[in-house]
Amino acid sequence: MALFSKKPSITEKDIMIKPLPQHIAIIMDGNGRWAQKRGLPRAAGHRAGIEALKKIVECALDINIKYLSVYAFSTENWKRPKEEINILMDLIVEYIVKELNKLHEKGVKINSIGDLSQLPPETSKYIIAAQEKTYRNNKLILNVALNYGGRAEITNAVKDIAKHVSEGKLKIEEINEDIVSQYLYTKSQPDPDLMIRPSGEMRLSNFLLWQVAYSELWITNVLWPDFRPQHLFEAIYDFQNRNRRFGGLDTKD
Ligand code: FPP
Repeated sequence: MALFSKKPSITEKDIMIKPLPQHIAIIMDGNGRWAQKRGLPRAAGHRAGIEALKKIVECALDINIKYLSVYAFSTENWKRPKEEINILMDLIVEYIVKELNKLHEKGVKINSIGDLSQLPPETSKYIIAAQEKTYRNNKLILNVALNYGGRAEITNAVKDIAKHVSEGKLKIEEINEDIVSQYLYTKSQPDPDLMIRPSGEMRLSNFLLWQVAYSELWITNVLWPDFRPQHLFEAIYDFQNRNRRFGGLDTKD
């Protein structure tokens, strides 16, 4: 019988039955391909990517996700043509200018992760102002990865730990995984439960390398500008029906 043969799409109602992931990380990939498919400049893809981000932030607020980490600009993205980098930096400023008040009213805390010191001063000025304005909010922590690389983050943590050891502020015997976590940009946050990668690539691309050790991965062929709450619900539903063992055994084994 054809009537029920198609898997019905997952709705918000379907994901409210089981616990939600606390922290979701997203690699916002596929903006360029989205634009190319339409014969548009890459900038149009990034602009459409921001529209997708707005919808997903809105949805995360609605369903009560506590932490959302999005990869906006990696330490490797400097290899792109200068013109594309400038467009991305301008779009980030435009996003802040247009959205900051609304995000603030809704209780979003903007938290940049990555090395802001190498961004154009105009861009970092707006990001720092957005962080300061939303500092006390706690409905949704939005980690925006800018000039971020997982290896760079871990390398910096190693340097800071070595410095504190040499200054006598930390003992070698005290160093454990929890201590290392406290030297990362995401200190005091839970690790992502779920990492989403649109556009079909099967890579972590240097995003939150330490933090995703036990995250569930969810990959879709949908390009980021086409990613909608319906896809987020599908990812969460899948996550809720997986068996997370964290290296241990199934409870029923
Ligand atoms: C990857 O697509 C996407 C990026 C490098 C930029 C992501 C940035 C945004 C969505 C907008 C800026 C973000 C904020 C927080 C305002 P790609 O260009 O690598 O796509 P491709 O692999 O199809 O070429």
